[in-house]
Amino acid sequence: MEPVLAVHGGAGRWRRLEEGERERVFKALRDAVEGGLRAVASGGAVDAVVEAVRVLEDSGLFDAGVGSVYSISGRVQMDAGVMDGKTGRAGAVAAVEGVRNPIVLARRVMEETEHVLIAGEGAAELARAWGLAAPLTLFYNDGKNKRFEDMKREAAAGGWHYKKVLEVAKALGLGDTVGAVALDRDGNVAAATSTGGVWLKLDGRVGDSPIPGAGYWAENGVGAFSATGVGEYILLSLPSFRAAQLVKSGTAIDVAVREAVAYVTERFGPDTIGLLGIDSRGNIAAEFNTAGMARAWGRGREVKRAAIGGEDWP
Ligand code: GLY
Repeated sequence: MEPVLAVHGGAGRWRRLEEGERERVFKALRDAVEGGLRAVASGGAVDAVVEAVRVLEDSGLFDAGVGSVYSISGRVQMDAGVMDGKTGRAGAVAAVEGVRNPIVLARRVMEETEHVLIAGEGAAELARAWGLAAPLTLFYNDGKNKRFEDMKREAAAGGWHYKKVLEVAKALGLGDTVGAVALDRDGNVAAATSTGGVWLKLDGRVGDSPIPGAGYWAENGVGAFSATGVGEYILLSLPSFRAAQLVKSGTAIDVAVREAVAYVTERFGPDTIGLLGIDSRGNIAAEFNTAGMARAWGRGREVKRAAIGGEDWP
C-alpha cells in the first residue's frame, strides 16, 4: 500500500493575497506534503501528519504556530490535536502559550501521558519540561501587530465585541487553521490539526482543533479527518466524527465530507467550515462552504496537487 497524505491551510474567503503570497502559500503546502511523505517513508501515519503540520506551523503563513493570531488582550494562545487511528488514542493541547510547535507537544501528550487534553499553563509547563518552549517574542511581528490594532479599532467603532467576534471571523474569512490526514503503508490512518484560533477571541477560549470528533478524528478501517473554520460551530456539530460515521456505514469519502459540511451549513450558515478526509484505501476529499480552502496532497514520494479555490481536486 502506497502512503497517501493530504494537508490543508484553512478554509475561508481565502483572504486577499498580497503580491507573491499565493506562491508562498502553495510552496508551504507542497513543503508540508513533501515533509509528511518523507516522514511516512520511514515511519507511520502519525509521523506523517505531525511532520506536515509542523512544517505549516513553522511557515508563519497560516494561523498556527508562529503565524497564530492574537487574542483580545494581545496574547497568542494555540490549540492542537492529533489522533492515531491504529490505537484510537488522541493527544491535544489547548490555549497554550510559548510553544513553537503545539502539534509536537500534542503528540507527546498522546504518547507520554494517559491524558487526552492538557490546557493553558499545564501544557506550557510540559513544553518547558520537554524542551519545546519558545520565547513569546517569536509569535509577534509588525504585520500581525498592525492588523491587531486595526481590528481593535474597528471593534470599538462598530461596537461588535464580544458578541460578534464570530460573525466578523466569518465575514473576514479568518480560518487559516492547518491540518493533515494520512494513510501509511500498513493501512494505519492519522489526523492532526493546529490553530491560533480567531482574532480577538477572549483569553482562554478553546476552539474545535484540540477536540477529537470536532477538529479531527482517525480510525483504522474507516479514515481520518481534519476540520477548519469557526470553532464554536464545529464544536457544536462534530463534523470529523460525523464524516467518519458516514464512511463506516458505507458512504464514499467525498459524499461523507460533503454531508458533514452540509450539516454545518444547515445549522450555522455558509462561510463556517472546511473538512479534509482520507479513507482507509487512500481516497481523499475536501469540502468547504467558504470561497476557498488551501490544500495539497501527495502519494508515495510524489507531491501531487495544491489548490485554493473551487477547482477540481484532488
Ligand atoms: N477552527 C479553529 C478555531 O476556531 O479555533
